[in-house]
Amino acid sequence: MAPENTAGPRHVDTVIGASGRPGRSPGASVNVPVELTSTYAADGAVNYARVGNPTWNAFESALGELEGGLALVHASGMGAISAALSLVAPGGTVVAPDQTYNGTGDLLMAFERAGGTVVRFHATDTAGFVSALEGADLLWLESPTNPLMDIIDLQRVLARSRDLGVTSVVDNTLPTPLLSRPLELGADVVVHSVTKYLSGHSDVVLGATVVADTERGRAIGERLQRHRTLHGAIAGPLEVYLALRGLRTLAVRFERACSNAALLAERLAGHPAVGRVRYPGSGAMLAIEVGHDDAAAERLCAATHVWLHSTSLGGVESQLERRRRHPSESTSVPVNLVRLSVGIEHVEDLWCDLEQALDAV
Ligand SMILES: Cc1ncc(COP(=O)(O)O)c(C=O)c1O
Repeated sequence: MAPENTAGPRHVDTVIGASGRPGRSPGASVNVPVELTSTYAADGAVNYARVGNPTWNAFESALGELEGGLALVHASGMGAISAALSLVAPGGTVVAPDQTYNGTGDLLMAFERAGGTVVRFHATDTAGFVSALEGADLLWLESPTNPLMDIIDLQRVLARSRDLGVTSVVDNTLPTPLLSRPLELGADVVVHSVTKYLSGHSDVVLGATVVADTERGRAIGERLQRHRTLHGAIAGPLEVYLALRGLRTLAVRFERACSNAALLAERLAGHPAVGRVRYPGSGAMLAIEVGHDDAAAERLCAATHVWLHSTSLGGVESQLERRRRHPSESTSVPVNLVRLSVGIEHVEDLWCDLEQALDAV
């Protein structure tokens, strides 16, 4: 049997390529199989496929290594967010940004309607977050925020919540573990829409939660796993296989997408049809304010040929959308804001397409 390669530094690109593989016994396949089963012969470690699946385990160990913790795969990002929000009891208090991904915002409003309290601050109001944590039950963070691209001081806010023992959750979908590792800053739970960068090819809808490999983290992880099993929002093994296959190329995809985004942010800032460019300085997402009204922003989205007018992000293909077309989007998002998810195409093709579409606005 070939020895496990433990030599040399474990760079993140190497971790992504190597983790979640079957062992290296002679004749072993290089990938885990898609285990299509609903149940297992009795007396094994797992008795039913709503509880666990070997294809899930491979993805979970790869993502766990990337985030530095223990991962669980969920049926969607919203499934992961619902599981994480179940950590706060009905009637409890949540501290959150005043603008988050709109699905999270909707769930927080439902939590309030059911008698809970949500205390909200602007993403950059670090003092507000820090002062509100005493007596709170759960801290919810997302940085950059989607779609305003505001940055939260995760380090300071998470340090305070850790000191007070407040359960903290960070949606790490936009930065990915390549740019941010919230568990290292003291977060209790990281959530992902795996649908986006981690799988990266716009062909699956999946989510994940990750907790620290500590006594506290494992206890939280057991609650999340129980929620997944009982509420039944579980992932199909084929989707998880595809997500793991996509994850293998995360580092190269993300590097290209981020460098494309940096150049486009610079050029967009010089275009007369563009007002404000919201680019956090890293990552592959940006948002622009186009012309003076929603019609100008819609005209831009309708006029591109390379960019796909669609509502997702994080795929290899560049996508754009005026976010306020969704009635549930926060009113703090300008009506003429177009969110850009920059893909891995040639940056000059992306710019040419945007430029001709902006000229038509
Ligand atoms: C930041 C963020 N979190 C969570 C979600 C929800 O994920 P899913 O669509 O996989 O349920 C999204 C979806 O756009 C998102 O952008």
